[in-house]
Amino acid sequence: MAGTVQTELRKRLIEAFTEAGDEYLSGQHLADIAGCSRTAVWKHIEELRKEGFVFEAVKKKGYKIVKAPEKVTPDEIGFGLKSEFIGRHIHYEEKVESTQKIAHRLATEGAVNGTVVVADEQTSGRGRMDRSWHSPKFSGIWMSIILRPNLPPHQAPQLTLVTAVAVVQAIEEVTGLNPQIKWPNDILIDGRKTTGILTELQADADRIHAIIIGIGINVNQSQEDFPEEIARIATSLLAASGKTVSRASLMQEIFVRLEKLYLTYLNHGFQPIKLLWESYALSLGKEIIARTVAGDIKGKALGITDEGVLKILQEDGEVRHVYSADIHL
Ligand code: BTN
Repeated sequence: MAGTVQTELRKRLIEAFTEAGDEYLSGQHLADIAGCSRTAVWKHIEELRKEGFVFEAVKKKGYKIVKAPEKVTPDEIGFGLKSEFIGRHIHYEEKVESTQKIAHRLATEGAVNGTVVVADEQTSGRGRMDRSWHSPKFSGIWMSIILRPNLPPHQAPQLTLVTAVAVVQAIEEVTGLNPQIKWPNDILIDGRKTTGILTELQADADRIHAIIIGIGINVNQSQEDFPEEIARIATSLLAASGKTVSRASLMQEIFVRLEKLYLTYLNHGFQPIKLLWESYALSLGKEIIARTVAGDIKGKALGITDEGVLKILQEDGEVRHVYSADIHL
């Protein structure tokens, strides 16, 4: 299916319903806000109904939205969205190979800072180190966020850590669970992975043109839904909490948290983020094995450097810096 383009008019209607909260909005009021006829408003409300929105219509009062749908369309994500720029432009597809691939194309074509590509299903989801990422229909958040920071490329790993903190905070807020971060950017609950982050760059030697932050979150799979090869190491928010989680609400929370932390990072540097990241880190102070392409490094995880590099204290007293590895506890 081609990407859903949210009309400007429907976007304005959704914003008006968001601001109105529990109040009813009359057809005339909606027509004024959207700058169209009442008939056009009614047609758009019918379109929203088809997407799964449930309206309550009361004579002489008007309409209010009482339920949003469970797809992650731009309308659904836009309803109640409080961020300023992240998620304000959404490219939605029901089924894609990988949202990263689309985000790369859109970034090349000039997509604005904060554009999000999201799909309800990925057929070739990609993970770190050329692995695949299982992304079944409707049960997870599969999205890629395009940011355009005015930074040199070597600072990109810090943005991955900024993202990990934002996602942890959002999961905590929406589910009440206590996720932890396994360096560099796996998010675990009770020792099992629920979220992976894949950061890719479009840059020249001096400047980042765009950073594409791919986020995959297992949300509403039941534990039995995971394929055998990952069943023992993966979990979902539903499996961990026993409750179904609204993907759109979680995305909204991620956008707000990420935007705030991203601006903190741009204005005040990495230090405040580093402190937060370390407060959520799973392995600090513990004995770990870092499996790198050059072999295993064994020792105590001390923390991260200002570049987001992991420091490991070996038994012989030497502190090793690890740039890329799989961590085993
Ligand atoms: C990891 O290996 O832990 C990172 C996984 C990242 C998966 C996400 S899902 C959305 C985006 N599209 C992809 O193909 N990959 C990322």
